[in-house]
Amino acid sequence: MRRKLAAGNWKMNGTAAALEELAEIANGPEPAACDVLICPPSTLLSRAAEAIQGKPVSIGGQDCHAEATGAHTGDISATMLADAGATHVILGHSERRQDHDEHDDAIRAKARAAFDSDLIAVICVGESLAERESSNTLDIIGGQLSGSVPDSATGHNLVIAYEPIWAIGTGKVPTTDQIGEVHDFIRTRLERRFGAGVGRSVRILYGGSVKASNAEEIFAVSNVDGALVGGASLKASDFLPIIAALD
Ligand code: G3P
Repeated sequence: MRRKLAAGNWKMNGTAAALEELAEIANGPEPAACDVLICPPSTLLSRAAEAIQGKPVSIGGQDCHAEATGAHTGDISATMLADAGATHVILGHSERRQDHDEHDDAIRAKARAAFDSDLIAVICVGESLAERESSNTLDIIGGQLSGSVPDSATGHNLVIAYEPIWAIGTGKVPTTDQIGEVHDFIRTRLERRFGAGVGRSVRILYGGSVKASNAEEIFAVSNVDGALVGGASLKASDFLPIIAALD
């Protein structure tokens, strides 16, 4: 049975004051059936890791370089994330694919680096509105999965997040049928490539305008094992009800 995962992606939000929200999340009711992950900006990683010590919350990065060290100004390696206390890293988010021109090959290399540092890679896939409207969603998702997930993925080091680009931060959410279709497709692809054992162990999160008011409905969809939440993960008062809806 897969444990649910409530993951918060703070993106480029949060200064030291945000650690109070993290503390409130960490001190919330202890979930019985759900893991909790917060991915703050890298400037807060170490302090966030200290703040959650002994609490049922994990900390993750939002990207990593494919190499462990080197002349890459401004980049952070998986080794550094692990050293700062992260156990997870988000990779291939559509904002990175778009803002930094990241393609599947680069994301696959980053995921390998994450695995080498014993990090769990949360690899994001998702279609644009134009791709959905031209009925290309499953082709796009299939291509991103094959291209960005390394062969060395297992049920323990990989999480997939399905984030339709048009639903991110827009308040627009796909229908439950649309979410279910993509999540079932991802599950089938994972089972076919990695075998039933691994394919059934990987958690598949939905991301895109998840909030307390739509969480229950989304989490009832088949093969939705949790959420990757942006805006509604920044405040404990918004995120705690999402955790409760999964638990
Ligand atoms: O990674 C989370 C994300 O892109 C969704 O953002 O603000 O729509 O919940 P948001």
